Amino acid sequence: MKISLAITAAAIAFGYVDAKTFLLPIPQSVEWTGNSASLSKDFKITGAKNPHVKDAAKRYNSLIHQEKWVPVQVPYTKQPALGSAGTLKSLEISVKDNYAKLDIGIDESYTLDVPSKGGKATLIAATWVGAIRGLETFSQLVESGKHDGLIAHTAHIIDHPTYGHRGILLDTARNFYPVKDILRTIDAMAFNKMNVLHWHVTDSQSWPLYFKSHPELSEKGAYSSKEVYSPKDVETIIRYGESRGVRLIVELDMPAHTATIAESHPDYMACIGEWWGDFAAEPPAGQLNPINEGAWKLVEDLIKEATHIFPDTLYHAGGDELNTACWPKEKTIVAYAEKHNMTYNEIWFEWENKLLDFVKTQKKRSIIWEDPIKDGGSMPVDTIVQTWLAPPSTYTAKGHDVIVSNYAYFYLDCGHGGWVGDDERYISPTQQETPEDTFNYGGVGGSWCSPFKTWQRIYSYDMSFEVKDSHPGKVLGGEAALWAEQSDYHVVDGRLWPRASAAAEIYWSGSYDNKNQRRTVEEFQPRFLDWVYRLQSRGINAEPVQPKWCAKHPQACDLNNPKKVAA
Ligand SMILES: *[C@@H]1O[C@H](CO)[C@@H](O)[C@H](O)[C@H]1NC(C)=O
Repeated sequence: MKISLAITAAAIAFGYVDAKTFLLPIPQSVEWTGNSASLSKDFKITGAKNPHVKDAAKRYNSLIHQEKWVPVQVPYTKQPALGSAGTLKSLEISVKDNYAKLDIGIDESYTLDVPSKGGKATLIAATWVGAIRGLETFSQLVESGKHDGLIAHTAHIIDHPTYGHRGILLDTARNFYPVKDILRTIDAMAFNKMNVLHWHVTDSQSWPLYFKSHPELSEKGAYSSKEVYSPKDVETIIRYGESRGVRLIVELDMPAHTATIAESHPDYMACIGEWWGDFAAEPPAGQLNPINEGAWKLVEDLIKEATHIFPDTLYHAGGDELNTACWPKEKTIVAYAEKHNMTYNEIWFEWENKLLDFVKTQKKRSIIWEDPIKDGGSMPVDTIVQTWLAPPSTYTAKGHDVIVSNYAYFYLDCGHGGWVGDDERYISPTQQETPEDTFNYGGVGGSWCSPFKTWQRIYSYDMSFEVKDSHPGKVLGGEAALWAEQSDYHVVDGRLWPRASAAAEIYWSGSYDNKNQRRTVEEFQPRFLDWVYRLQSRGINAEPVQPKWCAKHPQACDLNNPKKVAA
């Protein structure tokens, strides 16, 4: 270790700072030696003890051999003669804790040393999950060398995540995803060192999750008998995620976003059959009746079963977009409000508190959407708040830990036009665009959260903004959300990737480097633009973000630097 550090220092002194390889997310500390070692023909990854690390070692060893990566951001003609240093014979893994439970707070730190003299590389990790993260980084150091061989850029890397919660939200209720597409998303997440799949599994449109305690919900509420997740499917997803260090957190959204329950229990619901435009954020209308005893018993059964099936300590209790305009439609709610002299909001907050207390009896910690707190309710301070509207500091100041998914940055479904029918606003009788037309040209085009969130926009979000050390709550991390009104497994790769990689980097690396300088889109750009192709080479159908010509002529497509191109 000492020798390699000395060499590293010398290499930096001689100016080899840019080894032209592209790591994403960028590790907290990378010292390039400006060199590369050839991988020996019988290169081995040794030392794995945890079965998931053993599998990962095999998987990454095959990946680097199949991928034979050639960076796209380096012009082909300028690629260096590679493998000039020694021969790398092995990567030895050493893990301090092979048995840590994959859960909130797990230590994912690792140190990776690929010495410039070759020989043995080492990966030292605090836990088995850290080893999986380090293997991913190692795979990104490897690329195609001379004579059909492989080389590894040599470097000393010390790394850990800035935020422990780095998620993707998948919505399998508006449109269904077959299990294999969820697994592929988990693969892509692991390439990006993301570690939480937030499964928004049910909603007003369909109920695809089988419950042993209430099989009627998916029998009647799924789109078809083929669009149901069986206990075996759920187990498959949990296990697959675990093997890649990805936690599965389930959300049963309620009391709104539940209309599908009416297929089997109409008596538990309010506003069923009413026009959605008056009583819900989107069709169909229908919310759980907060004072119906049968509805509450159902809620308890579902939470008992879900918290039993999903091993994570966190449980997502939903809680967004309640429409209190719905409640005067239901006589029992009106009577309750009068009897107890309560507003509809107060009834909602009371119900949420009862729900959060019940989750605690199941030995879980709740996440809820920010809505009831934003609207004036107060929830137990250990409740994790997931934001989509307000800045995270609003809730850290109140003592809540926060997961950030601000819709104006992290909703990756936005900007695809409208999906509700019979909307005359698309018709422009004059065929002329006018400044008054804020719908079509220059307007939102029917997408409530327009425009499309670009990777540059996503990367520019600082989750620590105005969150003070004195705040009793902290930011746990973020999630990029793919709501499924206009997406499903046919488009999931391109809708999420590569843009979610911009989110993944600020979740892992943070918005500030180890010298406390704000990370910039300019610095991120070459790594990101290369990563698009690397994701594609790994079987993820990431969307192109520029003509390949630009990738092959780095910076020639930049807006503001003609001088750099000329130089
Ligand atoms: C009902 O609640 C309001 C607001 O808290 C209060 O001002 C009012 O006195 C209450 N009425 C009764 C009958 O308790």
